Amino acid sequence: MKILLIGSGGREHALAWKLKQSPKCEELICAPGNAGMEELATCVDIGAEDIDGIVAYAKENDIDFVVVGPEAPLCAGLADALQAENIPVFGPSKAAAQLEGSKGFTKDLCSKYDIPTAAYGRFTEENKAIDFIRKNGAPIVVKADGLAAGKGVIIAQSEEEAIEAVKDMLSGNAFGAAGAEVVIEEFLDGEELSFFALCDGENVVPLTSAQDHKRVGDGDTGPNTGGMGAYSPAHLMTDDLYDKIMDRIIQQTVKGMQADGHPFSGVFFAGLMIVNGEPQLIEYNVRFGDPECQALMVRLEDDLVDVLYAAATGDLQKYKDGLKWSDDPALCVVMAAKGYPGGYPKNTVIQNLDKAAQMEDVQIFHAGTARSENGDLVNCGGRVLNIVADGKTIEEAQQKAYDAVDVIDWPDGFCRRDVGWRAVKAGKAKAA
Ligand code: AMP
Ligand code: GLY
Repeated sequence: MKILLIGSGGREHALAWKLKQSPKCEELICAPGNAGMEELATCVDIGAEDIDGIVAYAKENDIDFVVVGPEAPLCAGLADALQAENIPVFGPSKAAAQLEGSKGFTKDLCSKYDIPTAAYGRFTEENKAIDFIRKNGAPIVVKADGLAAGKGVIIAQSEEEAIEAVKDMLSGNAFGAAGAEVVIEEFLDGEELSFFALCDGENVVPLTSAQDHKRVGDGDTGPNTGGMGAYSPAHLMTDDLYDKIMDRIIQQTVKGMQADGHPFSGVFFAGLMIVNGEPQLIEYNVRFGDPECQALMVRLEDDLVDVLYAAATGDLQKYKDGLKWSDDPALCVVMAAKGYPGGYPKNTVIQNLDKAAQMEDVQIFHAGTARSENGDLVNCGGRVLNIVADGKTIEEAQQKAYDAVDVIDWPDGFCRRDVGWRAVKAGKAKAA
């Protein structure tokens, strides 16, 4: 197969690495890709959101299968445009991608199909939103309805803070059109867990569990980011919780999406809050998590091309007994440019990456890298490198990942030093 992969982050580098291992992958092309993906694939200069450009390229170059990494092109209808040309695509239609593209859409689906989630209201009018906040009190959560690059959620500790957030969003000042409607919901106090499952519209195949670290600082402190690290499996997961998540949340969503006329095909990435042992849905994403995906790909033992193609073509039944995963935990450390998630310099030079990449059980995926004119590897984004290692225990994986981090020479970069700490602590408690 000639495969076209859309995107340019660490998630896509990890997908490219795994797709390339398949005997079914004759040729891999990435649009637009990054400096790390260039070593595995042909990178073409077409933006991930250039739907016309992608479709034209796929037609002209006889692409057999398109895998879409990020959500924005899916929410804009890339899968529909490719399907109209009979090109198989991994990723949901525009209508199904509303699960991520509109928080209100997902909340309404939950209420219609009895999926456990925080109590909520949807508002476009400031006065009504304020009444709701006054009635329910703080803490309370205010969310922009549309895509806001992971920044559209305010956990307000006071009614005043919530009202301020509503005003900022509805006026268009905070998130433009994505904030023209807001969802206001009950604050859930619990532990967060991510859950991934593939779906072909009808059949569901769960992936293994993974967990990320959203805060920038050690000990899960400081501002939210796209994700500073991840590990798999997630220590919180139990058989009982797994059954509840599948029965009450994932299967109900599949049924609801089908019944409402927009069956979901692609990957569900459910953000959950576990409150007193009971899972509640916080949000859906319609793509792999980044950096969760990097840890998942290192543990996956099945042929990724075959798995994703089965999801794209209604054939997931063949994986009804589940996918094969390595028993060894994997852990991903994100190296970011100093200043991230605020402003940061670009074009800072990164050295010794090859040396780190050769270390045992270490994989390095690029996220925001480019080549300078003289061939140096430089950063071109905030989250820049993903250092993934696996080991017999999560502690061993963590040690190997940080050993590799310490070999990399990048004075303008930083990382959290405690990725996986909750899992390491839980592992020690279990052993004791
Ligand atoms: P989201 O973009 O919806 O994932 O929200 C970002 C983060 O906000 C989540 O990962 C949670 O940590 C937090 N969050 C969202 N909704 C709630 C809620 N109802 N209660 C408590 N925390 C929430
Ligand atoms: N790691 C969180 C995300 O991909 O949204």
